[in-house]
Amino acid sequence: MAFRKENILLVDDDIDILELLQRHLQSMDYHTYKAVSVKEALYILKDTFIDLLITDIQMPHVDGLQLLKFANENYPEIPKLVVTGYPSVDGALEVIKSGAIDYLTKPFTKEELKKAVEKAFEQGANSKDSKRKIAGTKANIYADLIGESEVFLKVTDIIDRVKDNKATVLIKGESGTGKELVARAIHYSGKFSRAPFIAVNCGAIPENLQEAELFGYMKGAFTGANENRKGFFQAAQGGTLFLDEIGNASLGVQTKLLRALQEKEITKVGSQSAEKVDIRIIAATNADLYEEIKNKDFREDLYYRLTVVEIDVPPLRERKSDIPLLVEKFLRKYGVEYKDRLLRISPEALQVLERYHWPGNIRELENIIQRAVIMSDGAIDIGNLPEYLKYQIDFPDTDFVPLREMEKEYVQRVLIHTQGNKTKAAEILQIDRKTLRDKLK
Ligand SMILES: Nc1ncnc2c1ncn2[C@@H]1O[C@H](COP(=O)(O)OP(=O)(O)OP(=O)(O)O)[C@@H](O)[C@H]1O
Ligand SMILES: [Mg+2]
Repeated sequence: MAFRKENILLVDDDIDILELLQRHLQSMDYHTYKAVSVKEALYILKDTFIDLLITDIQMPHVDGLQLLKFANENYPEIPKLVVTGYPSVDGALEVIKSGAIDYLTKPFTKEELKKAVEKAFEQGANSKDSKRKIAGTKANIYADLIGESEVFLKVTDIIDRVKDNKATVLIKGESGTGKELVARAIHYSGKFSRAPFIAVNCGAIPENLQEAELFGYMKGAFTGANENRKGFFQAAQGGTLFLDEIGNASLGVQTKLLRALQEKEITKVGSQSAEKVDIRIIAATNADLYEEIKNKDFREDLYYRLTVVEIDVPPLRERKSDIPLLVEKFLRKYGVEYKDRLLRISPEALQVLERYHWPGNIRELENIIQRAVIMSDGAIDIGNLPEYLKYQIDFPDTDFVPLREMEKEYVQRVLIHTQGNKTKAAEILQIDRKTLRDKLK
């Protein structure tokens, strides 16, 4: 759907309970992360923006009480909810009292879960910790946003400059480069982080419904408008409205959006009166808006209003030095999810990943690692990677190399393909083994 919600971390050693929780919460539109042990939960906490922690108490090795204690100390801003069989027996009551943590007893219904989760979020929003500025290092703040390359640090530098104000931001970049993640980082690392973050994909809403969905409508404004309804603008009040694929906004919406940016007020469809809105707009596009302006599909004046601050998220092929870090992150994420442990990758497989040109950017890399983790029995090796990766190597076209270099590169590529088998490699190259041996020297 066009509307997305918070990240919830679920911790329980009982897989059935985990899956039940996940099913229920996903049907309520929450994102969920699962951990079957405290150790895994700690990895996820470190790596992800978690908005709510739901944990069992009795677990082997390290129990939930210790997790709660740790989380209270290190992540006081995250609301917590305990799911337990016997709160008094488990000793949960004390923790709950001490940390103002709510609990839900097993078995529970979906409705009870929903109430408990909503209450936990409410309490989180009201607690004094949430007003506290999110402490910690930069690495901590952008925990979800991996990268150390120079081009990427330019991005995090801009995030730093805009997170605590409400300047309008336009994020540009190819598909899968992390535009949405950047938008979330701006919101969640800044001082308005506890206000709503509402993501709307303009490309996913039919043009004729866009105005009503975004700005709300009055009863009787059009057939089917049976009641007064708020739109995404009102839902984001105080926080951030993320307008993804802004190039797909209808001209009607563009006109209203321009007004919202200039006057800080909006009018519901079918209403005569304007209402104030106090939000930050972040828009994103992977289309060339200049082209759309030329074709009169996009208002030029709106374009200038949106680009108070511009962020160009670089394609992955321009930040290849970040590949090992990204791979490590995805190995951890999917290792925990599918294999219950952390997996490694062979140097040869990593090399293949570093050579590929990544037209689908980070999303493509993440999918490939996810699939490799599922398909592997141990460390990820070349055999777990899709064939096509091995034949498409990105040679930067400005960077010509001597033929000898090129040959070396190619021989290595063939060897990678044959998994080090020199006889096979010599066959493919149609040279004898001795020549190959000489070349390898
Ligand atoms: N710097 C990063 N560190 C870690 N993960 C990242 C990073 N950037 C992107 N990702 C991951 O890559 C995937 C794609 O990111 P995202 O959805 O933000 O891309 P996008 O630019 O919005 O793509 P599209 O234009 O297709 O909507 C997500 O799963 C996201 O978590
Ligand atoms: Mg996106």
